[in-house]
Amino acid sequence: MAREFTTVGVVGLGTMGAGIVEVFARNGIDVVAVEISAPALERGRATLAGSTDRAVAKGKLAEADRDALHDRVHFAVGLDALHSVDLVIEAVPEHLDLKQRIFAELDRVCRPDAILATNTSSLSVTEISVATTRPNQVIGIHFFNPAPVMKLVEVVRTVVTAPEVVADVEALCARLGKVDVTINDRAGFIANALLFGYLNHAVGMFESHYATREDIDAAMKLGCGLPMGPLALMDLIGLDTAYEILDTMYRRGGRDRRHAPVPLLKQMVTAGLLGRKSGRGFYTYERPGSPKVVPDEATPVATEAALADGARAIAKVGVVGSGTMATGIIEVFAKAGYEVISVTRGAEKSAKVCESLKTSLNKGVVRGKLSEADRDAALGRISWSATLEHLADVDLVVEAVIEELSVKKALFASLDEICKPGVVLATTTSSLPVIDVAMATQRPADVVGLHFFNPAPVMPLVEVIRTIRTSPEATATARAVCAALGKTGVVCGDRSGFIVNALLFPYLNDAVKMLEASYSTADDIDHAMKLGCGYPMGPFELLDVVGLDVSLAIQRELYLELREPGFAPAPLLEHLVTAGYLGRKTRRGFRDHSHR
Ligand SMILES: NC(=O)c1ccc[n+]([C@@H]2O[C@H](COP(=O)([O-])OP(=O)(O)OC[C@H]3O[C@@H](n4cnc5c(N)ncnc54)[C@H](O)[C@@H]3O)[C@@H](O)[C@H]2O)c1
Repeated sequence: MAREFTTVGVVGLGTMGAGIVEVFARNGIDVVAVEISAPALERGRATLAGSTDRAVAKGKLAEADRDALHDRVHFAVGLDALHSVDLVIEAVPEHLDLKQRIFAELDRVCRPDAILATNTSSLSVTEISVATTRPNQVIGIHFFNPAPVMKLVEVVRTVVTAPEVVADVEALCARLGKVDVTINDRAGFIANALLFGYLNHAVGMFESHYATREDIDAAMKLGCGLPMGPLALMDLIGLDTAYEILDTMYRRGGRDRRHAPVPLLKQMVTAGLLGRKSGRGFYTYERPGSPKVVPDEATPVATEAALADGARAIAKVGVVGSGTMATGIIEVFAKAGYEVISVTRGAEKSAKVCESLKTSLNKGVVRGKLSEADRDAALGRISWSATLEHLADVDLVVEAVIEELSVKKALFASLDEICKPGVVLATTTSSLPVIDVAMATQRPADVVGLHFFNPAPVMPLVEVIRTIRTSPEATATARAVCAALGKTGVVCGDRSGFIVNALLFPYLNDAVKMLEASYSTADDIDHAMKLGCGYPMGPFELLDVVGLDVSLAIQRELYLELREPGFAPAPLLEHLVTAGYLGRKTRRGFRDHSHR
């Protein structure tokens, strides 16, 4: 029989604590909610009221249920109020000495059989537990932000946590409607261990002006389907909390440089820019605690006129290549009203491209997304050729041939001889340096990267890569073209992986390393990222879809260019590729897909 929890205590009513109170009270459990001072208690009470009022306004909570929820919460200053609770969750700032002091005090105040839990994200639960005389009743219950919304809870057992305490807490999580993964005490547990290197890397991109905050966030939302971009997420987590988590993970997790907090973070924390809770972090919010972003001096002007500023007029577009990307890109341009010349290596290839293009357009018609007239008009805008010379008078060329530098360089050298002056020459490469391609021409200022995502007609993102030789006009033209295609163009520098792959693949690689270390299972890791962070797919699901060989190749490029030891490809990934387990396409990758 699992133990019955009727009253729980929550210590610290900040970003997490207030949400945790709501989770318990919503599920019929009485809560004693404790803060350090009367003003802090008022803030916590207001956060809870704000959140439940929003739930009522959205129709997710009845007014009577909200009132009943509030009746279950007893607010108090000081830990003494926790004398008779069954379980306490501590959610005070991420400092070991503070948490140890609180646990020593809880040990003194609480009933001898009470379970003492910490919501720490990165500190050692074991070290916190030894501040008490009952380390076997101490456990980590790591909720995700916002606690009332995110389904996951990481239950962290130490080497001395009693098995029945673990079982009781697991049953409690189920009662709260949460999915739990139970794991050992390791820095960052599952989700944060995989998340924070990525978040810190994104802050580094912002700090080095590699891309704007809006572009970094849009890239990860639109390129990977994440619920929010990394900088917006940092603001939600709180920059002070994020700093402490990174700092602890750096020290506890083998001094991986990727966890050494980017210096900008410390500066922002010192300046009081803590994210949403202080009203300003990477973005500016309507007021402290508000989720609503308001424009500030860094907000880009996104009018059509601003986008077109300095852009050259584009009417005629050449697309070179006959693969999946080229086919998708021809479709995108033709549907947007551009005149398109497709150049392949022969009539047979052109016929194939034309066939798959027609199939794709017809699907659009069947699904009611495209009228027959629009389909025919789009097809009518395309001409087919096997000769580069036909690109003499286009305004823009998009190259999407095989991912081999020598081939691309030779092609760009030819384009340089054939195309008229002022044309923008774009490569869709996903891993080669754009500058190498640009320098194969006599006009590197006109060369950009236009990194479309697969499938191009569907994916809303395009990365616009400007090299150190790209002119502002060429960049402006590329951005204006993306807008005209109905895509979001994000501008970034010419570094391996651009924005999306540089942030995504090291995270996937880290997940493989975590699996390799037997810390957790592929299922639990996938669960943690989906339910804890709202990702559309877990890392192993995604790796199997993308292809393990493709993922390994990208990770190798990142490692070779950036020389970051933490980017070294996971040996397990290499072995699976060697063994021919490449993912869905070979029916086996991290999972067996042969029966699906
Ligand atoms: N922010 C997140 O996204 C997130 C997610 C999961 C877990 N966590 C963890 O949750 C814990 C709390 O983080 P947070 O972001 O909510 O911090 P926070 O700064 O928003 O809130 C901490 C609260 O603790 C109160 N407090 C400080 N000293 C206290 C004391 N002695 N007694 C009672 N209350 C005290 C503060 O007044 C404040 O309201 C940390 O361990 C953090 O790592 C945070």
